[in-house]
Amino acid sequence: MVELLTKLVDFPISIPFRIKCKKIGKSFLIGSGYSIWKCNLNNVIIGNNVQIGSRAWIQTVPLVGQKKPTIEIRDNCSIGRNVVISAAKKIIIGKNCLVSYNVSLLDHNHAFENTNLPPIMQGIDEPKDIEIDEDCFLGAHSFILKGVVLGKHCIVGANSVVASSFPPFSVIAGVPAKKIRDLTESNAV
Ligand SMILES: CC(C)(COP(=O)(O)OP(=O)(O)OC[C@H]1O[C@@H](n2cnc3c(N)ncnc32)[C@H](O)[C@@H]1OP(=O)(O)O)[C@@H](O)C(=O)NCCC(=O)NCCS
Repeated sequence: MVELLTKLVDFPISIPFRIKCKKIGKSFLIGSGYSIWKCNLNNVIIGNNVQIGSRAWIQTVPLVGQKKPTIEIRDNCSIGRNVVISAAKKIIIGKNCLVSYNVSLLDHNHAFENTNLPPIMQGIDEPKDIEIDEDCFLGAHSFILKGVVLGKHCIVGANSVVASSFPPFSVIAGVPAKKIRDLTESNAV
């Protein structure tokens, strides 16, 4: 009964998001307060059983002359509140990922090289794909920069800034994030 009531309350909240996305799987939930009106979600694909916390800011940023940007969040991901996911090219979050609260993933940056113009007038620099493979855990307040590829079952420490890519089963932390442990498959129970 409680479950049904929760669904009845939660479903209407998700309707504007559902309408704007390309595809949404079964059992999707998103908390209230997400950005919607100025956010382009044309090419956002969400798998089955995905939950996103409140106040999410998810958007694709189409650039002139570039392929349509995409965001894909695959099955069974849980994403905490205040997440920022902004793709000018491609961001993929693999299945079974746990993304904690206040995490940001942006595959582009504000351009700033021209010293005669303030960055706010320089547009966006060259975007680079972000790929988070399955079973990863991104700790609270972590920031994933453009071009980062994390292999399966990577663990990112709280408050980390991830500026480079890491192979599967890496535990990384810090600013910039460095490998602090290697979880090999022999750790599988
Ligand atoms: C990254 C993390 C998983 C590491 O756990 P661990 O493998 O048990 O690591 P340890 O605690 O043994 O620490 C190993 C080293 O990394 C450092 N370290 C651990 N977490 C760190 C972090 N977030 N940032 C910077 N350094 C960190 C430790 O200080 C230690 O350094 P030392 O060897 O110089 O003493 C954990 O510290 C963490 O940040 N978890 C995320 C918490 C979180 O976001 N929770 C929200 C849940 S929704």
